Amino acid sequence: MTLPEIEQLVAPILKHYQTALDKMTVSYIPLIGMVGDHVSKSHGKQLRPLLALLTSCCCGLPLKTDARYPLFTVAAALETLHTATLIHDDVIDNSDLRRGNPTVNNIWGNKTAVLMGDYYLAQVMKILNDIDNKEITQIVTRTVISMSVGELMQQQYTGKYDTEESTYLEIIQNKTASLLSACCIVGVALSPNKSNTTMNAARQFGLEFGMAFQIRDDIMDFLPSNITGKPCGNDIKEHKCTLPIINLLSQCDPYTRERHLTILNKETITDDDIQSIIGIINASEAIEKSIIALEEHRKKALHNLFQLPDNQFREALISLTLNYASPPNK
Ligand code: IPE
Ligand code: IPE
Ligand code: MG
Ligand code: MG
Repeated sequence: MTLPEIEQLVAPILKHYQTALDKMTVSYIPLIGMVGDHVSKSHGKQLRPLLALLTSCCCGLPLKTDARYPLFTVAAALETLHTATLIHDDVIDNSDLRRGNPTVNNIWGNKTAVLMGDYYLAQVMKILNDIDNKEITQIVTRTVISMSVGELMQQQYTGKYDTEESTYLEIIQNKTASLLSACCIVGVALSPNKSNTTMNAARQFGLEFGMAFQIRDDIMDFLPSNITGKPCGNDIKEHKCTLPIINLLSQCDPYTRERHLTILNKETITDDDIQSIIGIINASEAIEKSIIALEEHRKKALHNLFQLPDNQFREALISLTLNYASPPNK
């Protein structure tokens, strides 16, 4: 199934989610309206709400469910949480391009970007308060904490090229996988087939999907920006010790390692430096090794997915996994 086919499959409820999302971003304050317009016009894949809707339908939520059902507002809150973290993340990463468009910090500066991210987070809090469901509030607040921990840990390990693979995995589980997992848990929690088995399967499916997804994103940092919509080599520029870099440095002899570190450790990394590192990475086995790790997580994701009921919504979840938790360009 392609992404448009998946969207078509859940169209009757995707529309309820979209209405809830549109309501969240309306504001009479000109600056909020302007930034909000910019952000919602260049929307992304909407992977997180799709995960919430599909896991819920997979576990029995009817497509004719009333628009007032809380899942749709929660799905909008989860996408808004994602948006808030991206706006903040682009400040942290000094990134000027997202989804092929200038970032909020690029157009309006860091101060507005930080405040706008906070504004979106406040909208998420409001929704949790309105819905008043203790279980959902707990799932989402735990996720916000995990994501903050992930980004803070990443900050701590920035420029530390001796970072262990296990530390890298802990960072990406917190900053990325926790949210994908929360989307799947929420979907099942608000479905008729909620049980310990379906909840655990959804949690693990989302976590493993999220790990593969972030490894894929870290591999894609080496691809041109016209493919990713993000600056090429931004992780290298920002001295991020991602899995391909960990693999590169663990494979070479001490002399070569020192040579690579001379470039990686430069305070200002130029476009030429980025191209050199990309050349070195491509001539090594670092990407292949990262792909092996990605595929292990994807395999575990699919294994957990098979614990959920077998229907067309599970088929759609399999397609999403094969699309977004697989090596790029495959
Ligand atoms: C980007 O997520 C941030 C990561 C966790 C890698 P997405 O790739 O899902 O972003 P959009 O929403 O589709 O742009
Ligand atoms: C994911 O990490 C960021 C969040 C989870 C907020 P990245 O920094 O790699 O994401 P991109 O590449 O900027 O989208
Ligand atoms: Mg980033
Ligand atoms: Mg990235």
